[in-house]
Amino acid sequence: MTSVWRASRASTPSDEPVERCDDVVVGAGITGLVTALLLARAGREVVVLEARDPGAVTTGHSTAKVSLLQGTRYSQLLRRQSEEVVAGYVEGNREGRDWLLRYCDEHDVPYQVRSAVTYAADDGRGLEQARAELDAASRMGLPVRWSEELPVPFEHAGGVVLDEQAQLDPMDLLDALVEDLRAHGGRLVTGARVTGMGQSLRPVVRHTRGRTRCDQVVLATGTPVLDRGGYFAKVSAERSYALAYEHPAPPEMMLISTGGSTRSVRDAPGSRLLVGGEGHSVGRARSEEAHLDRLRAWTALHFPEAVETHAWSAQDYRSHDGFPFVGPMPRGLGHVHVATGFDKWGMTNGVAAALDLSASLLGGQMSWSSPIHRRISRPASVARLVGINARVGLDLVTRAAGVALHPLRPGTPAEGEGEVGRRGVVPVARSTVEGRTCAVSALCTHLGGVVEWNDAEQSWDCPLHGSRFTAAGEVLEGPAMRPLPARD
Ligand SMILES: Cc1cc2nc3c(=O)[nH]c(=O)nc-3n(C[C@H](O)[C@H](O)[C@H](O)COP(=O)(O)OP(=O)(O)OC[C@H]3O[C@@H](n4cnc5c(N)ncnc54)[C@H](O)[C@@H]3O)c2cc1C
Ligand code: FES
Repeated sequence: MTSVWRASRASTPSDEPVERCDDVVVGAGITGLVTALLLARAGREVVVLEARDPGAVTTGHSTAKVSLLQGTRYSQLLRRQSEEVVAGYVEGNREGRDWLLRYCDEHDVPYQVRSAVTYAADDGRGLEQARAELDAASRMGLPVRWSEELPVPFEHAGGVVLDEQAQLDPMDLLDALVEDLRAHGGRLVTGARVTGMGQSLRPVVRHTRGRTRCDQVVLATGTPVLDRGGYFAKVSAERSYALAYEHPAPPEMMLISTGGSTRSVRDAPGSRLLVGGEGHSVGRARSEEAHLDRLRAWTALHFPEAVETHAWSAQDYRSHDGFPFVGPMPRGLGHVHVATGFDKWGMTNGVAAALDLSASLLGGQMSWSSPIHRRISRPASVARLVGINARVGLDLVTRAAGVALHPLRPGTPAEGEGEVGRRGVVPVARSTVEGRTCAVSALCTHLGGVVEWNDAEQSWDCPLHGSRFTAAGEVLEGPAMRPLPARD
C-alpha cells in the first residue's frame, strides 16, 4: 500500500557509492536527510546510504503534522520525568519545528498553517485526558486554549487547541532536502542496505553496494540496525493506518482524539481529507485489514461525501520512557550515533535529533538536549521496559511452541492469505500473492521471532521488534538486515 504522497512519485536516482568519506548517514527519512544536510553544509564529505528510496518507510507514509501539541504527550511525559527534562523536549521540538518551517520558506516547500487540536472523543476518560493535556501543555509554557465546540461533523466533548502549527507533504520536503544535500557536495546512494560494520580505528560500513570507510556513522534507520546498543529491546514498534479521500469541505484543522481508539484528521491541498489511527504493536493484530475497515466505517459515518483514494499503513518506535534516544551508541567507540523513539511525532523530533546529532558531531551541543541525555529512568519507565521484554520473551517461547505443534495444511494458501506452520521440523511461512505462492523461513533473521501474516500489506511481520519482510522474504524494515531464506 502506498501513501497519497508517494503514489505518483518516481524513485530518486542514486549517486555512485564511494569507498571513503567523512560521515556516513544510514537512512534517507527526515532524520537522516536533515542530519546529512547539516553536516554537508558544515563542509563535511557526507554519504547517505538508503536501503530503498528516500521516504520509502515511515516519513513518506506519515500524516506529517508539524506540531508542538502532540496528542496527550506532555501529560504522559510529565508522569515519567521532571519538568526540566520535559522542558528540554519541548524546546527541542520547538527548534525542530522552527528550523523545518524556515527551511520550507527558503526552499519553496509548500505547507499549510493550521491549528492543532487534541479533542476528547467522549465526556468520560477522553475528556479527563484532554483536560490533563491542557494543564500539562500550559505548565510547559505552550499558549494552548480550551474549545468547547469544534467545527467538525463528529461528536466530541471539547478539545485543547494550539494555533499556528503546520502540515505538509513529507515527500516535497524530502525532495528539497536531497537536492540541497547534493548542492552541498553530499551523496545519496539508494538501494544500499547496510549489512554490517567493521571497526578498528575507524568504522567501515558494509552495504549491498560496497564498503565505505568513514569517521562517523549516524544510524537514522527508524529503529537502529547493527544491534550494538540493544535499542531494539528498548523500543516497541507501533503500526497505524491512514486513508486519503476526496472531500468537498474537509475540516481545516489537525485533530487527534483522546479516549477510545485514536482518530487523526487533517486536510491536504486539492480538497483532500486524511483520516488516520487504529494503532497496534507490529505483528500483533488478528487482521490488519480489519483496522483499516474500522477507519473506513468511521469516515463513512462522519464524512458521507468522502471518496477514498489511498490507503496505507506505517510504523514508528516508542521508547520505554517516551523520550527519543539520540546520541552516541554504546559500544560504538564514539563513532556511531543513533536517533530513534519518536513515537509518531518525528516531523519535529526527527529534525530536533538532526540538530542535536550534527551539533555534537561538529563539536558543539544543543543546550536543551542536556537534561534529556542526563535523564534517569523512573520506576514506571523501568517497569514498562521490563514489560516490553517480558512480552517478547513470552512470545518467543509460546509462538515457537505453537509452530512446532501445527504442521502446514495440505494445498496452498488462498490469494492474499498467509499461514505459518511446520514442514517436518522446519517452521515455514507460506503465502499466495498475485497468484504466486512463496514459502520462506518463519523465523525472523533478526533474533528468531516467528513472523505473522499482515493481510493488509501482504507482508510477514515480526511481533518481537517489528522487522517486516515481503511475501518472498525480502527485508522491508526493522532491525533485521537479512532476508527470510526460501523454503520451497
Ligand atoms: C502512520 C503514521 C503517521 C505519522 N504522523 C505523524 C505526524 O502527523 N506528525 C509527526 O510529527 N510524526 C508523525 N509520524 C512519525 C514520523 O513520520 C516518524 O517519526 C518519522 O518519519 C521517522 O523518520 P526517520 O527518518 O527517523 O525514519 P524513516 O522515515 O523510517 O527513515 C529511515 C530510513 O532508513 C532506511 N533504512 C533502514 N534500515 C536500513 C539499512 N540497514 N540500510 C540502509 N537504510 C536503511 C529505511 O529504508 C528508511 O528510508 C507518523 C508515523 C506514522 C507511522
Ligand atoms: S525483529 Fe527482532 S526477532 Fe524479529
